[in-house]
Amino acid sequence: MTLPSSTLAIPEVSAVPRHVAVIMDGNGRWATRRFLPRVAGHVKGVEAVRGVVEACALRGIEYLTLFAFSSENWRRPADEVSLLMRLFVTALGREVSKMHANGIRLKVVGDLSRFDQKLQRMIADAERKTAGNTRLTVTICANYGGRWDIMQAVGKMLAAEPGVVGYTEEQLAPHLSMAHSPEPDLFIRTGGEERISNFLLWQLAYTELYFTDTYWPDFDAAALDIAIASYQQRERRFGRTSAQLAEQKKAS
Ligand code: IPE
Ligand code: IPE
Ligand code: MG
Repeated sequence: MTLPSSTLAIPEVSAVPRHVAVIMDGNGRWATRRFLPRVAGHVKGVEAVRGVVEACALRGIEYLTLFAFSSENWRRPADEVSLLMRLFVTALGREVSKMHANGIRLKVVGDLSRFDQKLQRMIADAERKTAGNTRLTVTICANYGGRWDIMQAVGKMLAAEPGVVGYTEEQLAPHLSMAHSPEPDLFIRTGGEERISNFLLWQLAYTELYFTDTYWPDFDAAALDIAIASYQQRERRFGRTSAQLAEQKKAS
């Protein structure tokens, strides 16, 4: 089944965003400010993930997507990269059973082929174990890049349906790595930068963007509520006019 696309049909909008996508940024600066090594910020960042996952489940958010490691993060110093990998392994080992008990489905998307075999196996096991859960889908984007995603999807589409003249969005959509989820309603970037950094380029077409200076390790349920409150002030027009929206509201 292909989920609705914001450019092909106007999606339904609810007060609580159905899908929240987050660039968890500012771990390093959080640590540096405290005269701690950057890795201390990443350790704290994992704790923040736990809090936000729980807060999303309690608020009825159905999809939470977290940017954990970008395809460009390999450019960082080798010791920081390897610490991030180890943290990922430990967090998976520690959290998956709890997530499963809480009805959470876990997905990991990105070019996983660059990860070591053990990590790849842990990811596959975690996805398999939680596949039937429906309360909240948590997607971790690891070695993910928006351009990579589009290119790998195009490659798969061409292989599946070669020689077509004029491919459509519907033909591409099932091959994108977020095909299991609707497009994000709310995008949050912590840490003060106002850019997309090659996150979900395709899927953010009509997403509401929210930026906060709060560093990721400090982002908690209260901070999430502020982001949701900002979202609730937005008028999501999807190309239409305000007057059309008012008309539609009157009619319903
Ligand atoms: C985000 O925090 C975590 C990852 C990119 C893995 P950063 O590590 O980018 O923190 P800053 O931006 O340097 O503060
Ligand atoms: C984006 O943060 C990637 C993740 C949070 C995983 P970065 O810190 O890598 O982004 P840039 O380099 O400042 O754009
Ligand atoms: Mg950063």
